[in-house]
Amino acid sequence: MSNSFYITTPLYYVNGEAHLGHAYTTILADVLTRYHRLFGEKNVHFLTGLDEHGQKVSRAAASENKSPQDHCDQMAVLWKEVWKNLGIQYDDFIRTTEPRHEEVVTDILNEINKNDDIYQKEYEGWYSVYEERFFTEKDLIDGKDPILGRPVEKIKENNYFFRMSKYQDWLIDHYKNNPDAVIPSFRLNEVMGFLKQPLGDLCISRPKSRLDWGIPIPWDDEYVTYVWFDALINYYTATLAPPQGKTVIWPADYHIIGKDILTTHAVYWPIMLHAADRKPPRHILAHGWWLDKDAARMSKSDGNVVNPLDLAKKYGTDEFRYYLMREMVLGQDANFSEEGLVRRINSDLANDLGNLYSRLAKLWHKFDWGRLPQKGSYEDLIDEELNERILSLESRIKEEVINFRPHAAIEEIMQVVRGLNGHVEHWEPWKFTEDTLDLAFAMMGALDALYKVAELLEPVMPVKMAELKDRIYKGNQADRTMSPQLGKPLFPRINIKR
Ligand code: MSP
Repeated sequence: MSNSFYITTPLYYVNGEAHLGHAYTTILADVLTRYHRLFGEKNVHFLTGLDEHGQKVSRAAASENKSPQDHCDQMAVLWKEVWKNLGIQYDDFIRTTEPRHEEVVTDILNEINKNDDIYQKEYEGWYSVYEERFFTEKDLIDGKDPILGRPVEKIKENNYFFRMSKYQDWLIDHYKNNPDAVIPSFRLNEVMGFLKQPLGDLCISRPKSRLDWGIPIPWDDEYVTYVWFDALINYYTATLAPPQGKTVIWPADYHIIGKDILTTHAVYWPIMLHAADRKPPRHILAHGWWLDKDAARMSKSDGNVVNPLDLAKKYGTDEFRYYLMREMVLGQDANFSEEGLVRRINSDLANDLGNLYSRLAKLWHKFDWGRLPQKGSYEDLIDEELNERILSLESRIKEEVINFRPHAAIEEIMQVVRGLNGHVEHWEPWKFTEDTLDLAFAMMGALDALYKVAELLEPVMPVKMAELKDRIYKGNQADRTMSPQLGKPLFPRINIKR
């Protein structure tokens, strides 16, 4: 058993602006991190960061008359601001231009080279600057990159190659022996399908004459390291040089990625590690894409991107996080629409959850239940089936989360919330004019169950659920002295303008 639980996001290209897909990947990692902490996992470590080398960065810096490093330094501040505004709490933020990373990349290159896994040859191919990778002539579709349809440039040069092909059989065996190394399983099937073809060797250098913004190839100062080879190593770097006071142990437990970068993570990366005599990651978790409401991929060039920060500002960070986690079935694509977001907030959060709390708090004050003795267990006043669901809720949520179904975990919690609303309607406390102890206890039972709900939703909505917990027990949950605070609605209803 390892004594760290290590979760990563991809390193985002430093140039870009954070879009919905980036926000989703990072929020998902944050939510899984918080759930694992809630479930008692010790030393959970969450890494994110920036991919700062390569042609794209060097071109962007030049167009702004800045040095690439200045450009990256300025962009890094903006990225950190984005994550702060989306409620992300990472343990480490790595940038590929940091010395700690450059050192590790240099060491790994030297090790692999020593094993004779690197050689030089002339190469001709079509390069996509956008994706920072080569395609062969036959890969192209209509003369463009076959994945995203972006322009490619013909390049012929002498480069260093990594003997990936040598490790193809090892990788196939590794996946046969570890079928949960890629999740969901249909993504592993894709990888295995890809591995049926002979694997080419990987071009891992760029001549400085074409690009000098990269980590130097240690034995040849005419070259820098290919940006993907450099960036993938970040996950390992962060274990050797974590921030002070933190420990993190290789291999990573979850690399969370989008399906578009599956090959680099599930083929190149494990082979790189194996060639350097390190263990492959335990699980690669590939999520689907966010598509627009007409099912088109969201991309800047198609003009259908949405800015996650604008959405979080308009509707609330926690509400936005809730929507992303509830709406996407991990592994599948999902459609984003602002109407869908508003509908979710109004139905789940304003109507079901927010309303349950405010009606209970109002009743409490109306009947002045605070003066009554408070007892610790109210189960007999909640119907048996609902009570069962409340008692088993935490273990069922854990089951869903560790099986990568956060949307289903949320849905189970919301079913309990709806059940509790039914419980209040069953008792009809508003019809009473005088005290009955049973009534008071039945409502305390509902509030206590709502506290459990808040605890279990806190990884998804950290600020709002901490507030709800605090309102129910006013910070006194340990001695179970309830004191539900009134105040503004937790989730105001959003009026939809037509
Ligand atoms: N820099 C590389 C990763 C290097 S990791 C060693 C990269 N960066 S990226 O900024 O382009 O994308 C990062 C993540 O955003 C990927 O996981 C990608 O899948 C995700 N998304 C980009 N567009 C997306 C959607 N439309 N929907 C969901 N996620 C998608 O790739």
